[in-house]
Amino acid sequence: MVDLAELPYCMACGLAATRHRVVVGSGPSVPGLVVVGEAPGRSEDEGGEPFVGRSGQLLVRLIAEELGLTRSQYFVTNVVKCRPPQNRTPRASEVATCRPWLDAQLTQLNPGAILAVGNVAARAVFGFAEGVSRTHGRLGHYGGVPGVATYHPAAALRGGPHVVTVMRADLAVLRGLVA
Ligand code: URA
Repeated sequence: MVDLAELPYCMACGLAATRHRVVVGSGPSVPGLVVVGEAPGRSEDEGGEPFVGRSGQLLVRLIAEELGLTRSQYFVTNVVKCRPPQNRTPRASEVATCRPWLDAQLTQLNPGAILAVGNVAARAVFGFAEGVSRTHGRLGHYGGVPGVATYHPAAALRGGPHVVTVMRADLAVLRGLVA
């Protein structure tokens, strides 16, 4: 098992050369819910905090409205901890190299439930082979921890109110799972 204290200094893949900050994640040490995104964007790379940009703000608002949780009540992180250049989708090799950090976090946090946002997170956390357009709202498991996948909020910013409505319904599945 990797030592999470070393994560801020990771040089294990090529993203280390272009990142400004390793975005480890933030939230309570014993969370009812862990939210897993894809990878940091520009705002996150600059500030070191996950989901602080436009799409993150939308996600935080939807979680507040559907689950009654404020940002400080759940843990937020990403599958890949460093920003891919131009926000490209992380490569399979980058996901694989970063995977031990996510596994260590989820093992340590041992949450009541997990929300995976977007295809990369849904595949990495729940092993869903199909994309979120097919798997959103479906109950998945990480070890013994239940959870659901939904669209990435960036898709909602592009796709509009219909995507937001679907995300709200997916979040509703988490009610009752979040301790
Ligand atoms: N998108 C993500 O998937 N994660 C972030 O932290 C920010 C944007």
